Amino acid sequence: MKNLERVLSPLKIGPMTLSNRVVMPPMGTNLGNPDGTVSEENLAYMKRRARGKAGLIITEISAVHEGGIVGPRQLGAYDDRFIPGLAKLASIVHEAGCRIALQIHHAGRESIHLLSQGKAVGPSAVPSIVFRMTPREMTIEEIKEVIGSFGSAARRAREAGYDAVEIHCAHGYLLTQFLSALSNRRTDEYGGKTLKERSRFVIEVIEAVRREVGPDFPISVRISTEECIEGGYTADDMQTILPDMVKAGTDIIHASFGTHGSPGGITQAPAEYEPGFHAWMARKVKDVVDVPVIAVGRFTHPAQAEEVIGRGDADMVAFGRQFLADPDFLIKAKEGRSEDIRRCIACNQGCIERELLGEGSIRCSINPETGQETVYPEGPAEQPKNVWIAGSGPAGLIAASEAQRLGHRVTLFERDARMGGQIRYASIPPHKEIYGEWIDWLVGQVEKTGIEIKKETSVTGEIVREGRPDHVIVATGGEPIMPAIPGIERPHVSTAWHVLDGRVKPEGNVLVIGGGLIGMETADYLSERGVRVTLAEMLERSPVKKITSHGYMVHKRLRDKKCKLLFSTEITSIGDGFVEVVTAGEKSTLSPIDHVVVAVGLYPRDELKRDMENMGIPHTVVGDAREPRRIFEATEEGARAAWEL
Ligand SMILES: Cc1cc2nc3c(=O)[nH]c(=O)nc-3n(C[C@H](O)[C@H](O)[C@H](O)COP(=O)(O)OP(=O)(O)OC[C@H]3O[C@@H](n4cnc5c(N)ncnc54)[C@H](O)[C@@H]3O)c2cc1C
Ligand SMILES: Cc1cc2nc3c(=O)[nH]c(=O)nc-3n(C[C@H](O)[C@H](O)[C@H](O)COP(=O)(O)O)c2cc1C
Repeated sequence: MKNLERVLSPLKIGPMTLSNRVVMPPMGTNLGNPDGTVSEENLAYMKRRARGKAGLIITEISAVHEGGIVGPRQLGAYDDRFIPGLAKLASIVHEAGCRIALQIHHAGRESIHLLSQGKAVGPSAVPSIVFRMTPREMTIEEIKEVIGSFGSAARRAREAGYDAVEIHCAHGYLLTQFLSALSNRRTDEYGGKTLKERSRFVIEVIEAVRREVGPDFPISVRISTEECIEGGYTADDMQTILPDMVKAGTDIIHASFGTHGSPGGITQAPAEYEPGFHAWMARKVKDVVDVPVIAVGRFTHPAQAEEVIGRGDADMVAFGRQFLADPDFLIKAKEGRSEDIRRCIACNQGCIERELLGEGSIRCSINPETGQETVYPEGPAEQPKNVWIAGSGPAGLIAASEAQRLGHRVTLFERDARMGGQIRYASIPPHKEIYGEWIDWLVGQVEKTGIEIKKETSVTGEIVREGRPDHVIVATGGEPIMPAIPGIERPHVSTAWHVLDGRVKPEGNVLVIGGGLIGMETADYLSERGVRVTLAEMLERSPVKKITSHGYMVHKRLRDKKCKLLFSTEITSIGDGFVEVVTAGEKSTLSPIDHVVVAVGLYPRDELKRDMENMGIPHTVVGDAREPRRIFEATEEGARAAWEL
């Protein structure tokens, strides 16, 4: 076991003693009941997280006021009727031996739910950077009412049995809106030119909370240490108000950073950032206050926290998405089983982006149990079956490990010599190595279980007929599409897959056809190697959304490397050294073009599915073999297929 002495040491904060320095930070789940009360799903999700034995668990945002909710499924703390549900949540965490704080929150202008009803408020009538809609400026009476509502919500937390409360003063929500010169244009006592002047609202909120909870109840304040946005306040500015926050009653500073409007979703940083990349911000806080400070940002192993605490940058370390990927990581590290930790890959697909894009409640693209605790079967299956799984991409690997866990007899077949499917390609573009580490981990875990694995063996109708499995899971992925463009058969045309695996090494001026993820990432890969890339996409814009953190980074790199992006552009023929295109109805010729790379998507590899249908063999088709999509869908469907055997 790595030395985890500091991380595993207790910490006393007022009357609250934490058994270790690992914090599960607040993470909105969207699992609440539609009336804002705690649901069975909330309880099951929290129970699973608490089994991980963090010293402190901080709940997701809970609303202090109906006029500040982000959506109907957000937990409420604005009325006494919420106390019983909140109390159940607290006692589930206590039963596991952890301490729990309730995070109390007001969205201000950052609520599409309220903005679209014309009900959102803010310090000033300045449009939301995220939603581009304008809130109404709060009156002094409303300001006083909201300050009071933070106090009342904190009182409810105490009554519900919480050990502490955390005031959400981060990420661009109401308290940050008051702090930021970008959103606070007030000329009264709640506005001002300096951060110190604009901090009055925050200070009064802390004072109100302290008044309501009494002197012996810890108050954490979660700050965006820096706004991480052009014209926003900096960590140096923040240092000027931190002592006032402590004087007002703060016992813990939780040093987060960025807002939902910061470029590239820095608050939930993508894989481009190293674990602990912003621990220096916690240090900035520690330099000016003497209360315990929590650092956060891409941590995936307690040894990283040990280092940060050892350097004196922070007293505690928060692991957000890591608690979604593997709630048992601390226990595994303690037991010297670090190699079993499923490390977060920072893809944001199942968690924050799924929620922000309105795709549903919390999940994790590499851990199908997360957010599905109420339907996750503990096993064993009543009727163990003889199950064949065709394909060892993410869908097949997850199906295999879940089916094996539930007690089925599993044989996993892979056509190629190496397992991992398309993730072997997905891990090659810049900053995607982590995907390779994850798939190696998953392959290793599957191998460890003793599942029978047959590599270099394609499953066909014929061998299924001979082997007679009870059920076949078809996880055969997809095949690259070669569009019927005149000249596509020329020797200087290849697929993105062949470029990424190094079979083809294009040089000079290269045209990539297709602006989806694979095309964009291949362009990124090539331009990093000094190739001059033009990318042509039929659609008006890339399907890779800039509002996703990875999408933002890829678009930025292509822009920085002066890659030419042509949208609404169709390739009509490929010649020797040139291609002919039609852009928004206008014909033109692109030249010189030394190489053409095709990345226009995949079609499902479904021969086996058709054979199974024809032969009447029970089967389930999962992942790209059903329809080419993403890792999230592959793992989700792979797990479900195993659960439903
Ligand atoms: C360059 C690139 C980048 C990508 N980046 C991302 C990303 O950032 N995020 C994301 O979510 N997705 C990404 N994807 C897509 C993602 O990799 C796929 O959606 C995912 O791998 C699909 O998983 P799967 O298990 O369904 O299929 P696959 O990964 O395609 O695996 C199918 C496996 O089945 C095997 N097989 C086929 N036929 C048979 C047979 N008859 N018998 C036995 N074995 C067979 C194949 O050899 C293969 O190993 C990327 C893809 C590429 C190519
Ligand atoms: C799905 C999701 C929901 C989040 N919701 C909240 C929240 O309710 N309150 C909050 O202060 N931060 C929230 N965050 C931010 C996390 O607390 C944390 O700061 C962030 O994920 C960075 O930590 P990590 O890199 O360890 O994941 C959320 C993050 C995620 C991924």
